[in-house]
Amino acid sequence: MAPSSSNYFLFIIISFICPLLLLTTAGTLTLTPTKTYIIHVAPPPSLLLTSETWHLSFFPNSYPTSLLYSYKHAASGFAARFTDDELAVVKAKPGFLRADADFIVPHATTHTPEFLGLSRWHQPAGGLWNDSYFGRGVIVAVLDTGVLPNHPSFDASGMPPPPAKWKGKCEFNVSDACNNKLIGARAFLQGIQAMGIPAATSPVDTAGHGTHTSSTAAGRFVDGASALGQAAGTAVGMAPEAHLAMYKICTEFGCAGSDILAGIDAAIEEGADVLSLSFGGSSLPFDEDPIAVGTFSAVTKGIFVSLAAGNSGPELGTLSNEAPWMLTVGASTVDRVMETSVKLGNGEEYKGKSLYQTDSISAKLLPLVYPGASGNSLAKFCFNNSLDVDVKGKIVICDRGGGMDRIQQGAVVKGAGAAGMILAAPKPDGYTTLADAHVVPACHVNFVDATKIKSYINSTSSPTATILPCGTLIGLAGELPAPTVASFSSRGMSQQSMGILKPDIIGPGVDVLAGWPALPIGPFDSPSLFNVISGTSMATPHLSGIAALLKGANPSWSAAAIKSAIMTTAENENPAGKPIANEQLESANLFARGAGHVNPSKANNPGFVYDIDPSEYVAYMCGLNYSDTQVSLVARRIVNCSSADRTSGVELNYPSFSAELKPASSRKVSRKVKNVGDGSSSYAVEIAPPTGVAVVVSPPTLTFKDRGEELSYTVEFNRDGSEQTANYTEGHLSWISSDRAISVRSPILIHLLHV
Ligand SMILES: *[C@@H]1O[C@H](CO)[C@@H](O)[C@H](O)[C@H]1NC(C)=O
Ligand SMILES: *[C@@H]1O[C@H](CO)[C@@H](O)[C@H](O)[C@H]1NC(C)=O
Ligand SMILES: *[C@@H]1O[C@H](CO)[C@@H](O)[C@H](O)[C@H]1NC(C)=O
Ligand SMILES: *[C@@H]1O[C@H](CO)[C@@H](O)[C@H](O)[C@H]1NC(C)=O
Ligand SMILES: *[C@@H]1O[C@H](CO)[C@@H](O)[C@H](O)[C@H]1NC(C)=O
Ligand SMILES: *[C@@H]1O[C@H](CO)[C@@H](O)[C@H](O)[C@H]1NC(C)=O
Repeated sequence: MAPSSSNYFLFIIISFICPLLLLTTAGTLTLTPTKTYIIHVAPPPSLLLTSETWHLSFFPNSYPTSLLYSYKHAASGFAARFTDDELAVVKAKPGFLRADADFIVPHATTHTPEFLGLSRWHQPAGGLWNDSYFGRGVIVAVLDTGVLPNHPSFDASGMPPPPAKWKGKCEFNVSDACNNKLIGARAFLQGIQAMGIPAATSPVDTAGHGTHTSSTAAGRFVDGASALGQAAGTAVGMAPEAHLAMYKICTEFGCAGSDILAGIDAAIEEGADVLSLSFGGSSLPFDEDPIAVGTFSAVTKGIFVSLAAGNSGPELGTLSNEAPWMLTVGASTVDRVMETSVKLGNGEEYKGKSLYQTDSISAKLLPLVYPGASGNSLAKFCFNNSLDVDVKGKIVICDRGGGMDRIQQGAVVKGAGAAGMILAAPKPDGYTTLADAHVVPACHVNFVDATKIKSYINSTSSPTATILPCGTLIGLAGELPAPTVASFSSRGMSQQSMGILKPDIIGPGVDVLAGWPALPIGPFDSPSLFNVISGTSMATPHLSGIAALLKGANPSWSAAAIKSAIMTTAENENPAGKPIANEQLESANLFARGAGHVNPSKANNPGFVYDIDPSEYVAYMCGLNYSDTQVSLVARRIVNCSSADRTSGVELNYPSFSAELKPASSRKVSRKVKNVGDGSSSYAVEIAPPTGVAVVVSPPTLTFKDRGEELSYTVEFNRDGSEQTANYTEGHLSWISSDRAISVRSPILIHLLHV
């Protein structure tokens, strides 16, 4: 998911136009109205039956022309089109569990590797790139809008062939489009086509999103990369030697649930090690969410899954992709800006961002106007045809929002003859600004500066301003701290279970430079091989690539172990030693930052990990009071919760803690930990208790003798009797190695109930 202009565009189309499209399609199909369903069924009753034969036995007639997909791994079931009468027949067959109508899920660098300490030149010997051979031999599957083959980020020079287990296919319609880097490319778009939305069946990326995410995860070193001349340098993904497989399951209109399951099904079958999914819809119970169902299956097969938290922040409770088997990734800034500045007639200067940089105004002070000054609620967003003031030759200030695409706002003022645009962040966005490929000289300023610029307009009868290009600046000496959590990054609490703290982690997702499929950037005419865009979509493949490096360096680690290593070593302070801030430059809370900001090199040496056997997720779903059908559907086997284990969220062996406490109550849970470090090692606990809560850990030291050894400890949370008005309070516990080189940190979130 990307809130950048081009992808915000995707988001708008998906949220508003798609339902309309669907309605018109349904309206014209008057004869035999069929609908696509994902049909979940019990596993085949006999080992002699293949899953496809079993699935076909559910069809009402012997010519199942309406079958879209028969899933082998991602779900126990199939996708097909049925009329209401046909569906009734399907439902009556023994083994039928549930029919879910298919629906659309929205979509939700030169510098980021260095920012993350992965630099080829600066990393200490034995760093993660070195230990993992840059991810060699690991297969990263990206499920997205396709990919541009032969892009320089997917050059295969010097790459070994994929491992023998790889069974993927390359479905471009030209030969030699795949190579030892891009080892597979397939398209699964029958579901979206069945909804009446046209979609080309080639895995070529015509949207840009997929080329960007896949080159972020696994792009190779490309010298001389830049977008509109900005962010110039060597572009490289997180795992440059990993193999890449693209499963095109989304178009610019979004992704159909049946196609998502088909893509995950194929990635599992073909041998992927890591799945990267940069899309997600609104929060759904896990059994109703094809992403949760499919990724559960992947995780049971040892595949790591990383998913976007969503772009619906900063309000609380806006997350997508909340299941505990997923790594849920939020977005943060990096210490690089494509800067422009606004200089006012009174001499004040304010810094902001634009990818498009020009000195065409040549520092001339021009009249400055704010169409919103009249109180016109459309004019302030510079809506088409709503500008109620003369803007010719002037600098126009437009408020960001109102459902307007940011680049389109520039196009509107340009169309009305304006010389430049100041884009004003609204209050909720605070200090989060974005560098876009604008069509006029532009400067996206933060809320505080925007307010000062507007007061200046009020203070004088003839306000003037100019916009100056400043280029790409790294390091931001004296300016905003980085990382900060981006305003758009979706926030916890998890709507599906308060017992699991989400998001899990944050990573770079603002103004990320990565590959682009030779399409024009925004409204510019010339095709570009790189682009700068923003979103939790961009943060997710950073984590997918890092997971691939960890898998390469530690082939025996499970998906949960990799996730634990990433979470317990994350940073909660910025490089200046201050707590990581949110978009308002206040300390980011756990609902914004999760376990913190990823630190790849530390993740490779986590000391010990919190491992989870996939069967524990089944006990957890029983503990959520899901029905047997709901749990069976996700687990792809018949589960009877009354005779199975049940655990609550906080009891799951998760690397973070989230518990509810009534006044004067306590909660005790245990954790088991597995030594992945040196044979003999010892850790002592250090506790930062949440306000109003006493935390007791027993035993207070953990002493391992052997690598692979498992130990356990208990932690008890007690309300300390003090009066608390807050609803949530946070702290952490850290296990510090005796040489203090390793800290295994778990955040603690306590939901304080008042009665
Ligand atoms: C890793 O580092 C060692 C020692 O610095 C070096 O000899 C080796 O070539 C490096 N390996 C890779 C893959 O860069
Ligand atoms: C190959 O695919 C491209 C893009 O999807 C399409 O324009 C072209 O016509 C196809 N060529 C053949 C030979 O099918
Ligand atoms: C500018 O003046 C208008 C109209 O008097 C007022 O509504 C607005 O709040 C003022 N803006 C600032 C930033 O002072
Ligand atoms: C599940 O049901 C039990 C018994 O009614 C209840 O105590 C528990 O709080 C419920 N769990 C959840 C997560 O709703
Ligand atoms: C589930 O297990 C309970 C307890 O063992 C048993 O009474 C019940 O019949 C089982 N339900 C099904 C559908 O098998
Ligand atoms: C706590 O939650 C209650 C009920 O949801 C709400 O009314 C109240 O404002 C919240 N308190 C704080 C400090 O956020």
